[in-house]
Amino acid sequence: MGIKDQTIMMGAEIGSEMKPHLTQAHAQWKQFLKKDDLAIDATCGNGQDTLFLTDLCEVVGLDIQPAAIQQTRERLHKKGQEAQLFLHPHEQIDTLPLPRAPRLIVYNLGYLPGGDKTRTTMTETTLISVKKGLTLLAPDGAVSITCYPGHTEGAREEQALEQWAASLPKDQWLVCHHKWLNRLDAPSWLWISAITNGSTDYTETI
Ligand SMILES: C[S@@+](CC[C@H](N)C(=O)[O-])C[C@H]1O[C@@H](n2cnc3c(N)ncnc32)[C@H](O)[C@@H]1O
Repeated sequence: MGIKDQTIMMGAEIGSEMKPHLTQAHAQWKQFLKKDDLAIDATCGNGQDTLFLTDLCEVVGLDIQPAAIQQTRERLHKKGQEAQLFLHPHEQIDTLPLPRAPRLIVYNLGYLPGGDKTRTTMTETTLISVKKGLTLLAPDGAVSITCYPGHTEGAREEQALEQWAASLPKDQWLVCHHKWLNRLDAPSWLWISAITNGSTDYTETI
């Protein structure tokens, strides 16, 4: 997929209303994923994102907390949906038994809503995971990361991810960080997708 197509998918058309981070992310996943794709939810939490993804394609989900895996399992069961769920740290994403290369890997960082706030995602392990994730993706795959800079570790995590993502080779990756500049505590959304047609023409003006 070329940069122009992807930019249109990012909701960047003039006049389109900008939406909160998760609404933007969900809309992007919906447009991006095809039925035969595999998506990984690297942080299942209470399973809302996992459930959303199961409507779009085959899904593998993971979390380090048994409570999160259980909540996700129950949420899917109630809706008659299925996903392969693993109690597994995302920094070891490369050791998961995957049926094929994922086209999308989703990270919703932070801690389990209503759960133990100390079991939050951590800057160092998230970076390890996302870097591994890029190597696992299908050739036209993408990584979607929602960040929560409103708490101390979340702010470090967002800053480290943005710094690393900004250094990715521009002829290989499209990197876009959606954040509200006058609400620096608000969640943000980072999208990293592979450029498959070799185009580097991102300077087009209208
Ligand atoms: C904000 S919640 C995810 C919300 C979820 N996507 C949803 O829709 O409900 C973040 C989750 O990341 C999990 N987590 C923290 N560190 C992790 C790690 N190293 N590997 C996998 N999951 C982790 C936490 O246990 C928590 O459930």
